[in-house]
Amino acid sequence: MISKPVAFATALLIASPALAQTGDAARGKAVFARCMACHTVDPGVNRLGPSLAGVVGRTSGTVPGFAYSPAMKNAKIRWDTKSLDAYLAKPIANMPGTKMVFAGLPNPADRANLIAYLATATKK
Ligand code: HEC
Repeated sequence: MISKPVAFATALLIASPALAQTGDAARGKAVFARCMACHTVDPGVNRLGPSLAGVVGRTSGTVPGFAYSPAMKNAKIRWDTKSLDAYLAKPIANMPGTKMVFAGLPNPADRANLIAYLATATKK
């Protein structure tokens, strides 16, 4: 049942040489618990942070109706495994002025697993 999304995530990660670790989407789901106070993976459901539905592959700051910081709005980053990895390691250091008040995920394996989860769970 989970083989298809896992295969997709694996292909995505292999396609990104900058990412040293291969993510495990099932483990990433557990890591996502740390994001759920502020984010959902449901399209159009914004909390303190914007919906992360379809986040992998979209441009930063583009969820309709969400009041982004000027920093995020102007960043125009394409969210992929590499840019998400950098942002999630240290959001505020990576993007001065972001209003995402989250210390970051210091463990690279946590980030790789989480990004694998986001790539599968939020695919439209
Ligand atoms: C305390 C609330 C909070 C937590 C916890 C949090 N975020 Fe955020 N997040 C935000 C806010 C607020 C923004 C909008 C930032 C801005 O406009 O500068 C945001 C923005 C983002 C964006 C950019 C989205 C876009 O549409 O461009 C991503 C990606 C993201 N968060 C991922 C995560 C992940 C993954 C986690 C868990 C590891 C997490 N966030 C934890 C509040 C949070």
